[in-house]
Formats: sequence, structure tokens, C-alpha cells
Amino acid sequence: MATINDNYLKLKAGYLFPEIARRVNEFAKSNPDASIIRLGIGDVTEPLPEACRTAMIQAVEDMGDRSLFKGYGPEQGYEWLREAIAKNDFQARGCEIDASEIFISDGSKCDCGNILDIFGNNNTIAVTDPVYPVYVDTNVMAGHTGDANERGEYGGLVYLPINAANDFTAQIPTHKVDLIYLCFPNNPTGAVATKEHLQAWVSYAKAHGSIIFFDAAYEAFITDPSLPHSIYEIEGARDCAIEFRSFSKNAGFTGTRCALTVVPKTLTGKAADGSDIELWKLWNRRQSTKFNGVSYIVQRGAEAVYSPAGKAQIQELVGFYMKNAQIIRDRLSAAGLQVYGGVNAPYVWVQTPDGLSSWDFFDKLLHNCNVVGTPGSGFGAAGEGYFRISAFNSRANVEAAMDRISEKFKA
Ligand code: MLT
Repeated sequence: MATINDNYLKLKAGYLFPEIARRVNEFAKSNPDASIIRLGIGDVTEPLPEACRTAMIQAVEDMGDRSLFKGYGPEQGYEWLREAIAKNDFQARGCEIDASEIFISDGSKCDCGNILDIFGNNNTIAVTDPVYPVYVDTNVMAGHTGDANERGEYGGLVYLPINAANDFTAQIPTHKVDLIYLCFPNNPTGAVATKEHLQAWVSYAKAHGSIIFFDAAYEAFITDPSLPHSIYEIEGARDCAIEFRSFSKNAGFTGTRCALTVVPKTLTGKAADGSDIELWKLWNRRQSTKFNGVSYIVQRGAEAVYSPAGKAQIQELVGFYMKNAQIIRDRLSAAGLQVYGGVNAPYVWVQTPDGLSSWDFFDKLLHNCNVVGTPGSGFGAAGEGYFRISAFNSRANVEAAMDRISEKFKA
């Protein structure tokens, strides 16, 4: 009889977002007339920028032309896209990142999980609490943890609490951890990191030989010019950090799929015999073996993000969602709720009123306002008593949701 990966049995019931969808579908089935507004999962609603669509349409035409047709592309991504990213996202901000250090992929969620393939099984792993659940669940699946306790915390992981008292930025550990997941702008709290905060992490990682997994999927939503968009803006980060980025949220590619991972060639890890091995070589080997690249059509669409028209359209799109975030913040504050985030990030982190648990507040909003958010406890034990509202929706839906919540919570 074939055996299974028993680590999957350690996972909590369902991945957070399918679990929310299940509950919402159940509610919708018994309340067919309810007009439900979904501000739960951070999925974009606005159409793809015209520059991207035009480039993709042209790419489809290329595929119909024998002389331009493309079969398998490079597993690392096409050179022209990697060059555009290196120049615009990194070199323009003073980061020494070369196109050859960029790997195009079909999503940063996938890459955050896949990256574990190139690391050993005995690393000490630190995550913030609350945290994007993918970081935790992929480590559970890979057998890097023990069982979960009654709070849902897995044995063997180091949880770094983030809360209002520390501005939702984790304190640097006093002991050694090998792998550290950081996400800024933060999902779920909407917090951001200053250069000084990231510098402290880089210094820590360099002192301990640790690797930082830096998830910058929401960097485009930073409005404060003093804040870093990339960890490579920090001196020394080339020696201790891998960065994940995505076209999902800035350019509306959640359904189109395109992202990137940066693995500097200066980054090394230890082999069992104590020698230093370049992580770039391992990731390149992994991608060449397990991945056949993102489609030519989609990569052409992503390249258009860096054209003058693309840049202007992306700015407009990001500005649109950030206006939604501001409306959410303002309206919820006016309704007497304590809110965080939503200034340099598309997520607003709300303290649940009257001591309600995160899931009780979820039910209350769903049943009384027909509005869906994400319970903070779904992101970890320290998220209990909080609730995440996403700014990714149409203006009309955001305003209607805020009207309903304001009505419910008015004094
Ligand atoms: C979220 O809502 O946290 C995100 O949509 C998840 C993701 O990007 O995978």
C-alpha cells in the first residue's frame, strides 16, 4: 500500500481562504438574496492595464507567426523581462541586482513554498505571528515542524509576535535562527519597515549566517518615499536575503500569473561537509528541473508594466486601491473602530470591537452586513482579536461595505 506524507495530517483543517469561501458559500446558499461584498482574500478586481493587454495580444499574434513562434522558453524567464525588472525595480533604486539573479515564475506564493526545496531539514525557522499562512503551512508539509498545539502553533517554529506595541514589526531574536520570513508591506497587518529596521535584520542575519526570505509582493503600495521597497536597498542584503515579488497586486495579474524571485549570486548556505554552496546554483538547478517557465504571452504582458504607458497605468491602479484603503481606514475609524495599516499597504488591520473573537466578528459582519473580511486568528494565534479588510475591490463595493458597517456600529 502506498504511504502518504504524514506531515499533511498535522495541518489545520483547511487553508484559510478556501475555509472562508466555504463559510461564505454556505451563508449565500441559505440567504440567496444577500448581496455579499468580499473584502476577504486580497484578490484584485480592476481590469488588466491596457499596456499589458496590448502586449499580450501582440504576443498571441507572434505565436501565430512561424518566424516569431516560441516553444519552451528559458526556465529562468526571458532575458528581456529580467533586464527590464533589474533596471526598473532594482538598479533604479540603487540595488546591485543583475538580470541573471532574477527568476521569473508563476507566483510568489508558489516560490515561497518551493524555495524550501534547496534548504536542509534541520534549520531553525522564524515567522512573525500573525503571518501569511503559506510560510507556515509549507514548512509543515516539508516536515520541518512538530504538531500544532491548541493555539495552532507548530512545535519547532520560532514565532515572533507582532502587535500594536511593536508597530507590527518583530523584535530581532536574541538567539540564532537560520531562516527568517519577513513580509513588508506586511500581509496581514499592513505595517511597513523602515530602512533602520531592515538594517537590523540584515546585520542579525549576517552575524548568524541566516537567510532572510523577504516577501515584497506589496512594495508598489508604499507611498512614503523614505521607506525601502526592496531588501537590497540595505547594505549587506546581497549576502543574506532572497526576495520574492509579484505582478499580481500592482498589475492585476492574480489570474494571469507572473512573479519573480531574486537569488543573488553572492548568497551561500552550508553543505553537510561544511563547505559554502551558492544558493543561486541550487535554485537554478531546481527551476530547470521542476519548472518550464511562464508563458511567452504572459511575460510579454509583464514586460509592458515597465513601458511608459504601463508605468502610468500601474500607478493609477495602485492609487485606486490605495484610495479604497483610505476610505476603509477613515470610515472604520469614524465608526469607532481601532485601525492599523492601509497607508502604505492595501490591507487594513482592525481591532475587533467589544472583545469579540476574530471568527465571531467575521460571522457578525457576514450575517449583519453581508461583508466578508479575514479573521485575524487565521493568520496565527497573535492575530486573535483582529480582522483584516482588503482594499482590493471596486469603489462602489468598498463604499457600500463601509456604509453597512458604519450603520451597524454607529453610536
Ligand atoms: C491574501 O489575501 O492574503 C492574498 O491574496 C494571498 C495571496 O496573495 O496568495
